[in-house]
Amino acid sequence: MYKIISREQFSDCVYRLVVDAPLIARSRKAGQFVVLIIDEKGERFPLTICDADPQKGTITLVFQSVGKSTMQLGQMKAGDKIKDIVGPLGKPTHIEKYGTVVCIGGGIGIAPVHPIAQAMRAAGNKVISIIGARSKNLLILEPEMRKASDELIVGTDDGSYGKKGFTSDLLKEIINRGDKIDLAVAIGPVPMMKVVCGVTKSYNLKTYISLNAMMVDATGMCGCCRVTVGGKTKFACVDGPEFDGHQVDFDELQKRLRMYVTQENQAVEEFRHNPTCVDLALEAERQVR
Ligand code: FES
Repeated sequence: MYKIISREQFSDCVYRLVVDAPLIARSRKAGQFVVLIIDEKGERFPLTICDADPQKGTITLVFQSVGKSTMQLGQMKAGDKIKDIVGPLGKPTHIEKYGTVVCIGGGIGIAPVHPIAQAMRAAGNKVISIIGARSKNLLILEPEMRKASDELIVGTDDGSYGKKGFTSDLLKEIINRGDKIDLAVAIGPVPMMKVVCGVTKSYNLKTYISLNAMMVDATGMCGCCRVTVGGKTKFACVDGPEFDGHQVDFDELQKRLRMYVTQENQAVEEFRHNPTCVDLALEAERQVR
């Protein structure tokens, strides 16, 4: 059992949990994730490790309630216990001194970008971060990203905070102002990563993305998380979650993410007593589509 030390609600449906998990806290690296099972009847679902404190033995999880399990997790309180947390899983981000690295986080994708920005900066890179959300109330981790970056650019789709525009527009601004960029890392909704990769490809800028594929066992055996990268089948849980964004078949990824929408919506119905969360969950689902 893993005790929740603290819980914070960022926005209507985005939460930060600090969880007691000493072994994971000591061994996790940027880019890795955990799989959770909330209780005896819980399904397995992956969440990226946003941060960790090896001294205190805690890991930080930031997530959006987009389905039944994440809604249930969002309703847990400090002192509650999560049945199982498995990890750290997945290949860590390849960290080295590239020069200038642009870290781009969209929506809840800002959470997994945060440890990568930290690690890239610790390795001696100049880190320019771009974070964006649909509107101000969905923007998360701005202070943390500011601390992890040499420069932070903030934007919202509707212009309610920071610059108005998509993260891909803000990236184009940086490229066009003449900065020499050696690597881009982009994490967010699939359509956002697809557009960002389209931009970086036209500038021949190497780009890593982290895939939010559906997972079951997370050990490379069930095939649930399969994705096509460079024409080859890969498993996001063991070969990823990060891949060369210019090689990923985004259309297939989007189709696979929609496979269980009907079942997921049925499960979400059980949470109808909280309409705000459900509306945002369905909206997030639409973004994935
Ligand atoms: S989750 Fe089963 S192979 Fe990746």
